[in-house]
Amino acid sequence: MSEPDHSKPTIFINPKSGSIRISGDVDFVDADGLVLRSESGVKLCGCGHSKDKPYCDGSHKEFLRSESTSPDSQA
Ligand code: FES
Repeated sequence: MSEPDHSKPTIFINPKSGSIRISGDVDFVDADGLVLRSESGVKLCGCGHSKDKPYCDGSHKEFLRSESTSPDSQA
């Protein structure tokens, strides 16, 4: 296994929570490609429950917890 190349972003998508972690520098652009802002090491929401979209605020944890205890999940 090779070492990660830190000169380019690395994306990890958590298949359970849906969160998307991007290590490295990331440019947020508009529809025309104009850079709105740049950040490093962002975690984006992929579950749709964050109150701080596009960022993950940890709300997926409560969603997963309630989903695992719902009567439908006990079947
Ligand atoms: S993935 Fe974390 S709040 Fe949506």
